[in-house]
Amino acid sequence: MEEKSELIRDLTMMVSSVADTNNLLSLIVLATMKVMNAKAASLLLINKKTDKLVFHTCIGEKGKEIKRYEISRNEGIVGWVAERGEPILVPDVSKDPRWSPRIADSVGLETNSIACAPLMMNGEVLGVLEVIDHTDNEPMDGDDLARLQSFSDLATGLMVKAREYEEVAKENKFLKETMGSKHKIIGNSAAIKKAIDDCAKVANSKATVLITGESGIGKELFARLVHSLSPRGHKPQVVVNCGALPETLLERELFGNEKGAYTGADSRRPGLFEAADSSTIFLDEIGETSPAMQVKLLRVLQEGTFFRLGGQTPIHVDVRVVAATNKKLEALVEQKLFREDLFYRLNVIRIELPSLRERGEDVIILAEHFLNYYSMEMNQKPKRFDPDALAALANYSWPGNVRQLQNTIERAVIMAESDTITVEDLPLEIGEFQNKAIKVGATLKDAVDNFKKDFILKSLAFNKGNKTKTAKVLDIQRTYLSRLIKDLEMG
Ligand SMILES: Nc1ncnc2c1ncn2[C@@H]1O[C@H](COP(=O)(O)OP(=O)(O)OP(=O)(O)O)[C@@H](O)[C@H]1O
Ligand SMILES: [Mg+2]
Repeated sequence: MEEKSELIRDLTMMVSSVADTNNLLSLIVLATMKVMNAKAASLLLINKKTDKLVFHTCIGEKGKEIKRYEISRNEGIVGWVAERGEPILVPDVSKDPRWSPRIADSVGLETNSIACAPLMMNGEVLGVLEVIDHTDNEPMDGDDLARLQSFSDLATGLMVKAREYEEVAKENKFLKETMGSKHKIIGNSAAIKKAIDDCAKVANSKATVLITGESGIGKELFARLVHSLSPRGHKPQVVVNCGALPETLLERELFGNEKGAYTGADSRRPGLFEAADSSTIFLDEIGETSPAMQVKLLRVLQEGTFFRLGGQTPIHVDVRVVAATNKKLEALVEQKLFREDLFYRLNVIRIELPSLRERGEDVIILAEHFLNYYSMEMNQKPKRFDPDALAALANYSWPGNVRQLQNTIERAVIMAESDTITVEDLPLEIGEFQNKAIKVGATLKDAVDNFKKDFILKSLAFNKGNKTKTAKVLDIQRTYLSRLIKDLEMG
């Protein structure tokens, strides 16, 4: 008895620590059979789809053959237990009308006594643990039933744990997806959809792409998108911030060097263009490059070759170039600050990203996205915006674009004292946009348009950017709402 209770204790410990549920359940059935000196033992679980009992584990005499069967609820003694959720001991099956000999007869298993205990969780039967006869053919008795019950409790504990694991795994998956969305492009506006479509269109070619637009708008995100949609997408993209390094360092980084090319160059070092061979190089802040560097870049773009610093042999690489800048390159060209020939080399395909102001209801969609993202990251309950805060976010002009919006929401999540983000959690200059005052002196049309715009934005905000819902509340057609958004230059 001592040894047996030790076994149970060990199992109990394992149940609370092991994640491999299936093996452990089988082990519990094995322990049940051994400890109880039973001829056979099985664990049957309810299949939720079919509502039938299927064998999870079936060991002992004829175990393999029996495992193929399914049992309806209410069939035989096991079915009775599954239906009632009560344990049962049947010392002589031949005298019990509930006994169904179907399986035992067809596999030829002689059965005299049987004990069954349900696996119960919150009143729900998960399955049944069953033992048949002692190996010495003595019938099962009341002590056996009590013992069986403790094993079924153990199995239940394990299954409860397994479900918790499943929940946690699901949560983690959700978390990962949200984290994965770090690079996901969020937005529903026509402008952003067009930019995404354009990226998809040009991804397949090797043509150089120039991404332009204000700062904080998502240029890096779109450069990543072009690369990831391209046939080179499975290789790592090489990212170089051309504005971050002084010219000589940038040159070394990009082109690498031969041994002895400069003081301290004690070995040959390949540069980033070589690292990007057969992949994509993203030249960020290309507008910041010096005239000398522009000449070198032009050569790589034209010929696909370059020299390592101090090198004599031209190196050839197959690199796709994506460049980005928040500078107006055309203006720089005019001022002779940027080489015209390089500009045309880069500007083969142009993707001009819209500012957040031009993206209408995307502000709300992005705000909700960042709200979920940061609540999750800070392990907080999901938060929501109150209507005034949403209206302020929707009305503000966002000179710093998505980056500014992102930082604002991150700060708001930190600041908020409850689950609701209010105007108080927003910086003053944004918060005051909750009620955009209509100035006296405007024409009636402008004032009405202003009101309409404000009202529609607030309504959209209140309905989390859902146009169908908003149209319903405003009691107008969805198509009319879309037209209003367009006419009022909100989308
Ligand atoms: N459409 C979008 N969906 C989700 N996140 C976005 C979107 N656009 C931008 N972001 C986020 O905003 C931040 C700024 O984006 P990114 O760095 O790509 O901007 P940028 O245009 O390169 O800015 P800069 O010119 O200042 O370098 C990033 O954290 C990015 O993930
Ligand atoms: Mg950038």
